[in-house]
Amino acid sequence: MMIWVNGGLRAADAAQVSVLDHGLTVGDGIFETVKTVQGRTFALTRHLERLTRSARGLGLPDPDHDEVRAACAAVLEADPVPMGRLRITYTGGLSPLGSDRGDTGPTLVVAVGETTRRPDTTAVITVPWTRNERGAVTGLKTTSYAENVVALARAREQDASEALFANTVGDLCEGTGSNVFVVLDGQLHTPPVSSGCLAGITRALTVEWCGAHETRMPFDVLDRADEIFVTSSLRDVQAVHRLDGRELPGAPGPVTAKAMRVFDERAASDLDP
Ligand SMILES: Cc1ncc(COP(=O)(O)O)c(C=O)c1O
Repeated sequence: MMIWVNGGLRAADAAQVSVLDHGLTVGDGIFETVKTVQGRTFALTRHLERLTRSARGLGLPDPDHDEVRAACAAVLEADPVPMGRLRITYTGGLSPLGSDRGDTGPTLVVAVGETTRRPDTTAVITVPWTRNERGAVTGLKTTSYAENVVALARAREQDASEALFANTVGDLCEGTGSNVFVVLDGQLHTPPVSSGCLAGITRALTVEWCGAHETRMPFDVLDRADEIFVTSSLRDVQAVHRLDGRELPGAPGPVTAKAMRVFDERAASDLDP
């Protein structure tokens, strides 16, 4: 495995950043996870645009898109896996021990790992912890993911692959690494970005391609939804067959099945929508 670190490709065991990197010491960093198929990226332009939005939100210098594209191309050329998780990480760089950021400039790391296509359906749980829709980093894809680590571990304990959060006012928000959609009376709904969820790229494409409504909904809408699905770069559209103890028989239901089909078709016809 070859990894791009600060301007060059290195073998994995030689790819190093400082132990004083602000990404490591305080989680001062941002990232993107991009799906790759046969060595080609999906929706890279949208990912780079979000990387820039996240950088600006943290006060990091704008990432150089040409450099990031070159880094992605280099790691994929070295390792053109059939299906990959391409990870772009951009941090505050070498810094003092504390929350002040140093002035040596950001760290850029790009790596790809092989993955496999997700099953069409999955189990999810709800968790009692909240997403903060009014935080300083709300909506930014930061590397401070410890809350997601804890919630996802809870999901794994219950044989589920995702955990869903409400926000601080009790509205449905998102999963640890995915957005959520529900079907009510045959209509598709997903929480608005003002709920505090990440503006997921798969979410945006699903809204665009499948005509979902962006609707503020209480968390317990999950208990009465006819169908539920989650979206992310690596899941695409994935149906939920169990929520906590509730089975959703027949998943994927008709609306979800159509969204999965439309997403697959549109994504196959344009690698950078
Ligand atoms: C917290 C969170 N929400 C939603 C998503 C889904 O976003 P995307 O479709 O851009 O992968 C992610 C992606 O990993 C995420 O980390």
